Amino acid sequence: MKYILLFSLLFISAFTPSLVCAHSLLPAPQRVVWKKGVFSPKNGYQITYDSQETRTNVDRAQFPLEQDNKAVDSAPGRVCFFVLPANYCSEAYNLRITPDSLIVSANSFIGFLHAKSTLEQLEDKDGCYPCCVIEDEPAYGWRGTMLDVSRHFFPISFLKKQIDVMSSYKMNRLHLHLTDAAGWRMEIKRYPRLTNFAAWRTDSLWKTWWNDGKRHYAQEGTPGAYGGYYTQDELRGLVRYAQERGITIIPEIEMPAHSEEVLTAYPELSCTHVPYKQADFCPGSVATYDFLENVLMEVMDVFPSQYIHVGGDEAGKASWGDCPLCKQKMKEEGIADVYGLQAHLIRHFGQFLKKHNRTLIGWDEIIDSTLEESSAVMVWRNVEAANEAIQLGHDVVLSPGAFCYLDGYQDSPDSQPEAYGGYRSLEMVYDFVPDKGITPSNRKHILGIQGNLWTEYVPTASHAEYMLYPRLLAIAEIGWSGTAEKDFPEFRQRVLAQTIRLHKWGVNAFDLRKEIGNRPEVTHPIRHKAIGAKVTYHRKFNEKYCGTKETTLTDGLYGGWNYGDGRWQGFIGWNYLDVTLDLGKVMRVKEISTDFLQCSGPEIYFPAEYKISVSTDGETFAELKNTDHPVSKLPLNKIEQWGWKGRTTARYIKVEARSSAQHGGWIFADEIIVN
Ligand code: ACM
Ligand code: ZN
Repeated sequence: MKYILLFSLLFISAFTPSLVCAHSLLPAPQRVVWKKGVFSPKNGYQITYDSQETRTNVDRAQFPLEQDNKAVDSAPGRVCFFVLPANYCSEAYNLRITPDSLIVSANSFIGFLHAKSTLEQLEDKDGCYPCCVIEDEPAYGWRGTMLDVSRHFFPISFLKKQIDVMSSYKMNRLHLHLTDAAGWRMEIKRYPRLTNFAAWRTDSLWKTWWNDGKRHYAQEGTPGAYGGYYTQDELRGLVRYAQERGITIIPEIEMPAHSEEVLTAYPELSCTHVPYKQADFCPGSVATYDFLENVLMEVMDVFPSQYIHVGGDEAGKASWGDCPLCKQKMKEEGIADVYGLQAHLIRHFGQFLKKHNRTLIGWDEIIDSTLEESSAVMVWRNVEAANEAIQLGHDVVLSPGAFCYLDGYQDSPDSQPEAYGGYRSLEMVYDFVPDKGITPSNRKHILGIQGNLWTEYVPTASHAEYMLYPRLLAIAEIGWSGTAEKDFPEFRQRVLAQTIRLHKWGVNAFDLRKEIGNRPEVTHPIRHKAIGAKVTYHRKFNEKYCGTKETTLTDGLYGGWNYGDGRWQGFIGWNYLDVTLDLGKVMRVKEISTDFLQCSGPEIYFPAEYKISVSTDGETFAELKNTDHPVSKLPLNKIEQWGWKGRTTARYIKVEARSSAQHGGWIFADEIIVN
């Protein structure tokens, strides 16, 4: 014991905090000091443990150093495993490597597991370890990945492979989005139609199935039916597999929305009882509560996780206002509106899970003053939602779409397979600072962070890996190392080294060496005759996507692939684009064009109508262009310049663009170019 205390003191005094990693360690350790020389295990070494408990933890973590030793009694080298004092967190570990000894300290199986991951990254091609002193612990306790296995179904072997990768980067939560319209994925013994019907659909590609207008399910075994589900035994096996790798699996059962598949298999759970009509459960019906409680009982039986995710996002609530049972429930409970009905349902399940010693977590639409107090919120929208949840006393997991959604394009869209839309490069994910905008006293409520992979446009397991990696490494880094020291070029170098490692493992990671990057025009302001021209808005841009307000369209700056980059200006509904530019004096004009974005995921489409007119006096306008365009949801992400070419004179230029009546959606423009 004396030795251990001395050892801890040595650790503390030897450190100067540094994130500089000569060895591409990812996530970067909290504190590391590199020394000269290596420890070579080649000639054998003596292994010592300071206690049986340490030995049990080390054995469970399966250190190759334990198994591969040649066990020479007189070997000069020593490998020692020690316990860390209890005031260290259970995920902490220390490493001290000298030419003669390799000393690993932790106070739990998880701590030793993290030490093992670090050693695996440190080992050089000769099997030696560089001399160093590392003292390490995570910044955040929840370092998660969400996989949507509903839109496309992935086998258990794929999930195990991701667990291996996550574990080696010290991630510790795997959130499985097990239910959604596209297919139910967990065997529930009491409700067999969930898996012999609602888990199967008529088309393997989500895109085709979703857009065919019918969205039909199929009986299991129907020729051509696509889908699948995990049996409870398979899931129990997966839970054990994950536990041995330091990962907790968080199951998600969606309610009250995203439930078309359930409500077609069991239509009596919707307000109308009509299959293929509803996405939302009927929160006025006792049957809904019975069903969901019975499902959650089986879920809790399979998944030992403290947190059970209940979705809670994007409920349309369309049928609730007219439903006799919903109206009755609102009357009985004194609920004012349909939002209160959703809050009532979520509170019910918060209490139900608490009664069973579990904790509800849900997407940030569950925030409400009546939310059961122990419930936690998974934030996917913005920091305001995080602050609101925290203000009400709830813990939060942060996975805001702008940083943590891994379904967007990771590189220039025309170089990539189609993706949900939006641009989210490795650098954009790495830019995430979890506690930005959260007051210091509220930061203790941040449980951690999570990267989410929705799979609408991710049909295969190998494509899922392509979307996950290497961006998930940015989530691993932020979650473990924190964001006190950020240096993207340095991080990128480590990611490049880790991508080689991932490829060697057979992980289909995007090859960062081939990255093209953001739209090149973004960094090169353009010159044209309307730079600085006054813009009169006959209809206002949307405040959330306002760009730089009145200067956006004539500042010479193009937007990039990301519609939220502050360069694009968004118009929605009747606020279509309708502006007049004043060039200051009458000029000769040969070309007028507008730079438009299409990004189908968030329903930003090229215009259906586009008009350009000019005037010398601001009173009488001559139309130069007036065209209709069929609006398509394809391409998913593209920028185009639409314009007129000819010869005219003008001081005032009026540009109008409207969405289609059929698709609605947004119009995004970043510049009106005049030459
Ligand atoms: C979500 O993206 N609807 C959670
Ligand atoms: Zn109802």
